[in-house]
Amino acid sequence: MTALLNKTALVTGASRGIGRATAVALARAGAYVLVHYGRSAQKAESVVAEIQMKGGRATAISADLGTSDGAALLAKQVRSIVGDRLDVLVLNAGISKSAAVADYTVEDFDKLFATNVRGPFFVVQQLLPVLGEGSNIVVISSLVARMVVGKPGLENPSILAYASTKGALETLIRNWAGILGPSGIRVNAVAPGVIDTDMSNFTKTEAGREVALGMQALKRLGKPEDVADVVAFVVSDGARWITGASIPVDGGSKL
Ligand SMILES: NC(=O)c1ccc[n+]([C@@H]2O[C@H](COP(=O)([O-])OP(=O)(O)OC[C@H]3O[C@@H](n4cnc5c(N)ncnc54)[C@H](OP(=O)(O)O)[C@@H]3O)[C@@H](O)[C@H]2O)c1
Repeated sequence: MTALLNKTALVTGASRGIGRATAVALARAGAYVLVHYGRSAQKAESVVAEIQMKGGRATAISADLGTSDGAALLAKQVRSIVGDRLDVLVLNAGISKSAAVADYTVEDFDKLFATNVRGPFFVVQQLLPVLGEGSNIVVISSLVARMVVGKPGLENPSILAYASTKGALETLIRNWAGILGPSGIRVNAVAPGVIDTDMSNFTKTEAGREVALGMQALKRLGKPEDVADVVAFVVSDGARWITGASIPVDGGSKL
């Protein structure tokens, strides 16, 4: 595939899970991929090695997007590598938390919003000078931005703060799409359901797996590659008339 030949791409949180698969998919489509990571340096280097082994181009870069200067530090590195043009920006890095409502702390809440919302907000701001006509931004949202999952009841753990960060991202992509459309920049979200990664460790138990499969029309666990292939399509010319959209990639969850 050569849909992204000679294009540059940044994938945040590409050391593991959905980000990793997305970096590999974009490189397979021909892009030079910046593999961003937070703490998993070795894993990020292994993604770079995998891409290079398959004949692609990639470089690992690090920044903690949960800190107030993380976005600026990341953008500085990106600009020093790609120069004046970034074609594809995938905002994937994120954290999650499950707890009973009474057990959430202010620190939990702030960390979730700092990493999942403030980070992407300022990464876009800081990279605007290198985004231009034909560039694409994709945000990895979630099914839970629009649907309530888990058992009801105050005694049960819930992911409501995490879900709210994804709701904020869905609002942001529509605003970004409106603001950046006249510059020829498309902005979309991809909203996965349950995907088998470190984050969704509840699927490692039989009970958790049953919960996931119980809400899906398609009866297998989603894989990172199921999401990555959609991201690769959304940033390709085939999706040139799609902007401001959130595309469910969830095996038909909660139909
Ligand atoms: N898995 C699911 O079921 C699911 C469903 C819907 C949406 N999503 C969304 O998809 C995205 C990826 O999820 P995943 O399941 O692939 O998660 P994952 O396997 O836990 O990977 C998370 C990635 O984010 C990076 N990251 C986390 N905090 C960071 C920080 N402060 N600074 C920099 N990087 C940071 C991690 O980097 P390091 O390890 O290098 O620190 C890692 O590469 C997230 O936005 C998540 O909300 C996941």
